Amino acid sequence: MDRIVVRGGGPLKGEIAISGAKNACLALMPATLLSDEPLTLTNAPRLSDIRTMSLLLESLGAEISTMQNGKVIAMSSHSAQNHIAKYDIVRKMRASNLVLGPLLARHGHAVVSLPGGCAIGARPMDLHVSALEAMGAQIELRDGYLHAQAPRGLRGAQIALRFASVGATENIVMAASLAKGVTVLSNAAREPEIVDLVECLRRMGAQIEGEGTDTITIQGVDRLHGATHPVIADRIETGTYMLAPAIAGGEVELIGGRMDLLGAFCEKLDACGIDVSETPKGLRVKRRNGRVDAVNVVTEVFPGFPTDLQAQIMAVMCTANGVSFLEERIFENRFMHAPELIRMGARIDVHGGVAKVTGVEKLRGAPVMATDLRASVSLILAALAAEGETVVSRVYHLDRGYERVVDKLRGVGARIERVKEDG
Ligand code: EPU
Repeated sequence: MDRIVVRGGGPLKGEIAISGAKNACLALMPATLLSDEPLTLTNAPRLSDIRTMSLLLESLGAEISTMQNGKVIAMSSHSAQNHIAKYDIVRKMRASNLVLGPLLARHGHAVVSLPGGCAIGARPMDLHVSALEAMGAQIELRDGYLHAQAPRGLRGAQIALRFASVGATENIVMAASLAKGVTVLSNAAREPEIVDLVECLRRMGAQIEGEGTDTITIQGVDRLHGATHPVIADRIETGTYMLAPAIAGGEVELIGGRMDLLGAFCEKLDACGIDVSETPKGLRVKRRNGRVDAVNVVTEVFPGFPTDLQAQIMAVMCTANGVSFLEERIFENRFMHAPELIRMGARIDVHGGVAKVTGVEKLRGAPVMATDLRASVSLILAALAAEGETVVSRVYHLDRGYERVVDKLRGVGARIERVKEDG
């Protein structure tokens, strides 16, 4: 198993290219199941989660080929007849549940394993299930699998989500695209990945309005056709690399980075002393003074501060001037990075959903363990500013969501390398 070794210190300088968004791509890929014509995605990120979604779709009978070294994914579900998403794959990646809506809409039946809990929380699927039931599906849980059928097809419905779930919104929008009649989804998620999915579905012939607001209206159509769609830039990767000069100093330009995808995150950066400006190629990010100022953060749905950047801002707050309170409101168990950061000399007290971080002048390198994707990268950020060497193990978490993270950080002068366990 590989490890990442980081020697901290020194300001960063240079450019980092932002990849296509993992979470957009993971929602766009299952859309292939909605049509018997090809769907091609460009600007796809090269990540293990994307390979897992490919395997899942292939297990359902889709044909998938990649071009340009994985950046282009060509999919065809022309002869995809299987409708069982097996536990073996679903348990590896929760986004696998995004095949439920498309399978049900296209075939009238689907059997999808319940994913179970994961490192950051329980992550149930009740919102997906009750919405599809409102659209006429009958769904029951047997042997750990959701058995769903809609023998007479799905029909449009008025659906109000109890919580603006990203995955439930994606499943509902895809299913409703092929349902009979109109679906009005209120309290829909507004994340940019939803907007990207709707844009793709529209290219495939879907009739959808209101994406990016809390009410999405979908007029079902009889069939969807093929399309080519570019995956939106990864806002979480962008935010992560914006925090690299925040903690290590220096100035970086994020090629393809977009401020409009970052909502409240950019306001927090300004408040803690980071300058962000738009350039013709993306975003330039620079730390104003020696140390950032402490800011309080509450994670919320978009455009609030994203839960997927909470671990990374915590790393930055570890060396801030003052005390910050970080409140996690989306997932119940998303502070697993705190004990690892403490091993590097951070002062963090976690009580329930709130972490109190008292900034220290210096972190010190240590052996640490990655526990989930965003936690892993927060340890790398902390290591960039720490004195001495940090060794991050279990880096397969990083491979799920950060394309070529070592190369990208080396490109701006970080002293970081990937080594084999025995090497
Ligand atoms: N929830 C329910 N019932 C449901 C669905 C969700 O109670 O039926 C709860 C969850 O338990 C959680 C909250 O709602 O507490 C948020 O879940 P949501 O459905 O919005 O999240 P998701 O679709 O499972 C996506 C991203 C996550 C990101 C969240 C929140 C993908 C593939 N994953 O997950 O990304 O944190 O939205 O923005 O899009 C990551 O990339 O590291 C990651 C975890």
